[in-house]
Amino acid sequence: MTEGGIVHSFQPSASAVNTDIQVSKITEKIMASSVKLTVNGQEYEVDPATPPSTRLVDFLHEKNLSGTHVTCYQGGCGACTVVASFVDPDSGAKNTHSINSCLAPLLGCNGWEITTIEGLGNRHDGYHVIQERLAEYSGTQCGYCSPGMVMNMYGLTQSSSSWTASEVEQHLDGNLCRCTGYRPILEAFKSITAQDIEDSHLARCPKTGQACRGHCAKKENAKVGQFVYLL
Ligand code: FES
Ligand code: FES
Repeated sequence: MTEGGIVHSFQPSASAVNTDIQVSKITEKIMASSVKLTVNGQEYEVDPATPPSTRLVDFLHEKNLSGTHVTCYQGGCGACTVVASFVDPDSGAKNTHSINSCLAPLLGCNGWEITTIEGLGNRHDGYHVIQERLAEYSGTQCGYCSPGMVMNMYGLTQSSSSWTASEVEQHLDGNLCRCTGYRPILEAFKSITAQDIEDSHLARCPKTGQACRGHCAKKENAKVGQFVYLL
């Protein structure tokens, strides 16, 4: 009922009530069913009591994967970029893209495979070529934006088999840097070729998919050493 344009009471229409019921049923269904995803090859099952408003980046931080940064929390800076692989429900094809983890509802990530900066490369297991190139070109200072920059570039290399310098620029246009300046960052990424990426995969363990730690080679050498010793 309105008086002078002011709404004094509101009676929702039958269709609005039905829509609310449907939405709450869908939410209950999502909450009740188990949501599973992998992060850097490790499988996780999300607690069914997780609030629907939880975002993927919150989950990553809860799992101590703090390399994925947050600045704006609203899709504007790219600091929270990770790479996600998921099956397209229409085509059945597997897609891999960089995404803003601050915008991805956790309960919508069922079946997704997430790669974060920790899974791409680190000081213990060795760095990925994209990380190395950013450092070589002096493309990082405080480093706050760097994980997001690297993961966005990694997403481009995983969604395309080749890319031009201008495509690299366009792809990175959602990632902000407040201190280094964009020239060295873009020059670093423009220098990366599909062959560089292919070669970097060769340095990955065919069993685990992680960067090669050289342990298997050491074991082989140890065996050879034992054999030589026995001779
Ligand atoms: S935190 Fe800025 S885009 Fe996600
Ligand atoms: S290196 Fe400091 S924000 Fe980019």
